[in-house]
Formats: sequence, C-alpha cells, structure tokens
Amino acid sequence: MSAEIISGTQMRKEILAELEQEVVRMKEAHGKGPGLVTILVGENPASMSYVTLKIKTALSLGFHEVQDNQPDDISEEDLLALIEKYNKDPDIHGILVQLPLPRHINEDAVINAISPDKDVDGFHPVNLGKMVIGGDEVRYLPCTPAGIQEMIVRSGTETSGAEVVVVGRSNIVGKPISVMMGQKGPGANSTVTMVHTRTQDLAAHCKRADILIVAAGVPGLVKPEWIKPGATVIDVGVNRVGTNEETGKAILSGDVDYEEACKVAGKITPVPGGVGPMTITMLMKNTVKSAWWHLERK
Ligand code: GUN
Repeated sequence: MSAEIISGTQMRKEILAELEQEVVRMKEAHGKGPGLVTILVGENPASMSYVTLKIKTALSLGFHEVQDNQPDDISEEDLLALIEKYNKDPDIHGILVQLPLPRHINEDAVINAISPDKDVDGFHPVNLGKMVIGGDEVRYLPCTPAGIQEMIVRSGTETSGAEVVVVGRSNIVGKPISVMMGQKGPGANSTVTMVHTRTQDLAAHCKRADILIVAAGVPGLVKPEWIKPGATVIDVGVNRVGTNEETGKAILSGDVDYEEACKVAGKITPVPGGVGPMTITMLMKNTVKSAWWHLERK
C-alpha cells in the first residue's frame, strides 16, 4: 500500500485563489481590501524569511501591506506604542508581530497588546478562549491548527467519531488542535487524546489513531509500526537535519519516518510541502475575515 499524499502546496493554491476572488468582491463593495501589517524586530534569518513570504503572499492577493521592520534594541515600551498605533489605524485589519522576539521584550505583553479584533495570528488569550468555547464564539483560529484541520477536511478524511491522537502540547499547535478536533461541528466531533513527553506508552496511543497529528519537534519520532494501517497522518515537524552542500539551503525533515510511513498510512502530509504552506494561507484567510468584519460592522 502507498499512502495518498496530502499536498499543502496544492491546497494553498486552491485557497489563495478563493481568497483572491473575495478580495476583488471586497474592493468592489468597499473601495478597499484587507490591510495587514507585519512587524519584524531584528534580523533573525528564519523570521526574515517567514515574514518575506507572508508579505509576498499578501501582496499577491491585493492586500494593503505595511512592512514595519524595527531594530533589535527597540524597547518594549516603543513596541507596545507601535502596536497601539496599528490598533487604531482603520486601514489595518490584521497585526502580525513575528515571534520569537529579543529576550528583553516580554512576548506575552506584546501578544496581549494586540487588539483581539486584529489578532489574525489567533494568539491573544481572548481569541484562544473563544476557540475553547467554540461554535459562534470562534473568531480567529491559530493559523497552524486551522491549516491542519483544513487539510484533514479537504483530504476527505472522516473526523466524526474518529480517534485523533495529537503528539505534543505546545500553545501554538498541540493544545489548540486538540481542542478544535474535539468540538461539536463539521471537521471535528472527534475523540481526542493528547500525548506528550511524559506519556508512558507513546506507541500504543499512536497505534489507535485514525488521525495522527504529530507536532513534537523530534525528527523521525514516529515509526511506521506506530501507525494504524490506513490512518491519516499529519506531520507538523519542521526539523533542520542538515545543509545541502550545493545550494546551502537547510535540509528539512518531519517528525514521522516518512518513507516507511507511506507504506502503512492511508493519507500523509510530506515535509516540506505539507502543513508549512498552510500556516501562511490561514493567516491570509484570517486577515480577509477580519477585513470583512471591520468593513461591514455597523
Ligand atoms: N513565529 C513562528 N511561527 C509564527 C506564527 O505563526 N506567527 C508569528 N507571529 N510568529 C511566528
């Protein structure tokens, strides 16, 4: 058996094409499109490449995009004041502060300073709380978990009554996706188990999963014999395992032993080209959602 590949690159194309149409409709109706500001502090190379990709994607959709780069030594006070400026800017619907931040800045204070109405990353405690309540309360879902759920649904995997096992309990992936898959509603209604570094028998839990979501940050952690035949496997790991000597680019590997897992799983996401492209796509989707809300509220 060879697993069907769930391509994030392909799904990104489909979703961005849908969003592009929405932006055209928005401009016709309101004379302006979504506005996104990306705030990058310092020159962390990984952050710079993520932000560049976010800006490129936003511009390709016709967003009003503001790139606000700040020096590494900006004070926390000045950064909070900058956020407040964008909170009040009627042309900005989404505020993204790229993480991680320099050590002298308290990340929680920064996340808390972003207006929950413009928190398109879905990291603000108000939006996380609304996500936990579920239903009509949900506002902006955090982008990586939203991308994972979208991939599961678009791949045609049944979630209702499915055993979902999530490996990892981070605030940006493991915890939120565990909550989301257990909610009442389409693309959810699953029975969820969240496992982590203190779980006694990881393999036994993984083997029960109809949908296995792995976000542990440990290359090759999940072995093929941990996978239930026919299961859908979502690999969130992005591990730099070396450097290509010719191109100088990082060689990426997931948390799942991909080649062998393909022989057991029913459907599987590759690394790269799986969950990665979906995160930025969901950021764009959240920004479009925010723009509609800001432009149409009375
Ligand atoms: N750093 C790594 N991933 C993310 C993300 O999704 N959003 C922000 N703001 N920073 C990040």
